[in-house]
Amino acid sequence: MTGLAAQKRLYIKTYGCQMNVYDSERMADVLAPLGYGLTDTPDGADLAVLNTCHIREKATEKVYSELGRLKAFKASRAEAGGAMILAVAGCVAQAQGAEIMARQPAVDLVVGPQAYHRLPELIARSHRASGERLAADFTPDEKFDALPSQRLATGVTAFVTIQEGCDKFCTFCVVPYTRGAEYSRPADAIEAEARALAADGVREITLLGQNVNAYRSDGSGGLAALIRRLARIEGLDRIRYTTSHPRDMDQALIDAHGEVDALMPYLHLPVQCGSNRLLKAMNRSHTAESYLRLIERIRAARPDIAISGDFIVGFPGEREADFEATLALVREVGYAGAYSFKYSSRPGTPAAAMAGQVHEATKHDRLARLQALLEAQRRAFNADLVGRTVPVLFEKPGRRVGQIVGRSPYLQAVHCEGRSDLIGRIAPVAVVSSGHNSLAGLRAPAPV
Ligand code: 5AD
Ligand code: SF4
Repeated sequence: MTGLAAQKRLYIKTYGCQMNVYDSERMADVLAPLGYGLTDTPDGADLAVLNTCHIREKATEKVYSELGRLKAFKASRAEAGGAMILAVAGCVAQAQGAEIMARQPAVDLVVGPQAYHRLPELIARSHRASGERLAADFTPDEKFDALPSQRLATGVTAFVTIQEGCDKFCTFCVVPYTRGAEYSRPADAIEAEARALAADGVREITLLGQNVNAYRSDGSGGLAALIRRLARIEGLDRIRYTTSHPRDMDQALIDAHGEVDALMPYLHLPVQCGSNRLLKAMNRSHTAESYLRLIERIRAARPDIAISGDFIVGFPGEREADFEATLALVREVGYAGAYSFKYSSRPGTPAAAMAGQVHEATKHDRLARLQALLEAQRRAFNADLVGRTVPVLFEKPGRRVGQIVGRSPYLQAVHCEGRSDLIGRIAPVAVVSSGHNSLAGLRAPAPV
């Protein structure tokens, strides 16, 4: 951790048993990376937590009178232009959550002892509700945190950011804290940008967002509607988007894959792992089966679509059987490509505090096994195109003189001999050989 000076003040008042004292310490620990440091007065606190005890009637009543007192601090904080989140934790919260909210409306959130691991999420959501972004002490990690960008823009292709942020709170991930809530740019602004790019010679755009298929534009629908609108732009022949969450893969978007010619047959749809037990612990909101059914529906709409994904090995609690479920899912899907990572503990995320952290050597071994399978699938996917003719959008000169390079609809790099005036144009290429990362082809149909 980088140890940012605590910018936010956390006041915790603990009632009852030793267990509650321990839980209060844990709460302080999980909130520290969000910038919270302990203070011993509720005066000026950004977050006040009452960690309650239900053991006797009298103890419960004490909670309500203390809440009345804290409400006054909350009000004076608001008058001074600040904000204080008021939270009730512990056994009273467990037993009377709804009643507390009803009896004391100043309470912002109620969290039972079983849900402390969700505190970072609840606090982040509470900040968002008041329009404030958390200044979290998460060390940036370009690998996981950056907006997805799979390749450099060339002048023929360009990226257009249409969405940022994430509301999914996967338990391993810092993005919901660092990037904030899901936000979509207005469709008019996106269309204007895409038109300007097309007028400048761009033939292909990739729509970017951390949760790009959660895109929603006021009045004009989701990502499918946006894609249909952009597909009408003169000169813009290819549209891609990344990264998507399975939960937001709606029927309209699936239909678009079957109906919109400009929408390329390639989909990056991370699943993370194949074990339902771990998917639940990851808070992914899908199972292996629901993901597979989704892939089936997408392939029904667009049978040749290339699927790629993200995987994490060594998530806390991962056993050999869980990992084998991941391998089984990969075999079932058949990926055209994928990114795979060893689980990396990020302090402040719920998974960092989970039991069953996996040894580095085991992670290393599983990653190697997973990557060997994914690599074989990638090669098989590439090899499948040998002997076929695909439309290639030429992007730049190749490394060798007289060679040019472009992309197939499936995002594979394709090399062939050709004049540089083909750059910026789409032309058919007969694929003659394939490798790990690219295809080689001939501009004229291959001799028989
Ligand atoms: N450890 C390992 N992989 C992670 N990712 C995000 N956070 C972590 C982490 N803590 C991966 C996920 C995600 C991709 C962008 O980065 O697979 O889909
Ligand atoms: Fe992170 Fe999950 Fe959001 Fe992706 S969907 S950015 S992995 S929280």
